[in-house]
Amino acid sequence: MFPSKTFLSSLSLLAPALAIAAATPEHVPVRRQTIPSISPETMFTVDAAANTATCARSGIVDKFHNNNGHDLSTLVFYMYPLTSIGDRCELLFLPSPGSRLWGSRQLDIYTLNARPANCSVAWTPGTGRNTSLGRIEVDPTRQVARWLYHSSSYLTYSSRCAPAGTVEGLEFVPVSEYDHVEWAQGQGYGVQIAYYL
Ligand SMILES: *[C@@H]1O[C@H](CO)[C@@H](O)[C@H](O)[C@H]1NC(C)=O
Ligand SMILES: *[C@@H]1O[C@H](CO)[C@@H](O)[C@H](O)[C@H]1NC(C)=O
Repeated sequence: MFPSKTFLSSLSLLAPALAIAAATPEHVPVRRQTIPSISPETMFTVDAAANTATCARSGIVDKFHNNNGHDLSTLVFYMYPLTSIGDRCELLFLPSPGSRLWGSRQLDIYTLNARPANCSVAWTPGTGRNTSLGRIEVDPTRQVARWLYHSSSYLTYSSRCAPAGTVEGLEFVPVSEYDHVEWAQGQGYGVQIAYYL
């Protein structure tokens, strides 16, 4: 499914609105962002050498020949709110200022059908991966990471929001042999599911 013209124009309006909100210090009395987005409720870092998933407050994806197999991916879990009922949803990666990026800065994204039971569990990399959504490139000069390709239209283009209360799990996985993307997560920045009519 390809995006309509209407959608493309809505996205170009949407991304700066979120990014401006992210860049604005809390104490500056400005009008709040008008386009809402869903932040992750929980996040986990998966370590491929330790075979664990541990709770995290920020995202890190890493692959490096010299890391002794400690390739890292990030799991994020969202809960669709009542306010998104009937809306369109779309995944946006808004790198926070100061995100640490090197190597290819490319991430593969999967939906998940499993969630760690608590903050420290055994977790083999690849556990629970359901559908591939596609690949993004995080570029510090762009407000929103761009899609290199979409393997699914779900969340990668404007798509119908899942029902309120649904938990959405996504995994962000390194692509190349040398890849590092590390980002802060907060209201209006990081990995967000934007929703709008
Ligand atoms: C797995 O992906 C399929 C196809 O996108 C979807 O229909 C199904 O609901 C997903 N399963 C879970 C448990 O999320
Ligand atoms: C966390 O979950 C794992 C897997 O279900 C379980 O084995 C472990 O005992 C749990 N740890 C705590 C502290 O609840």
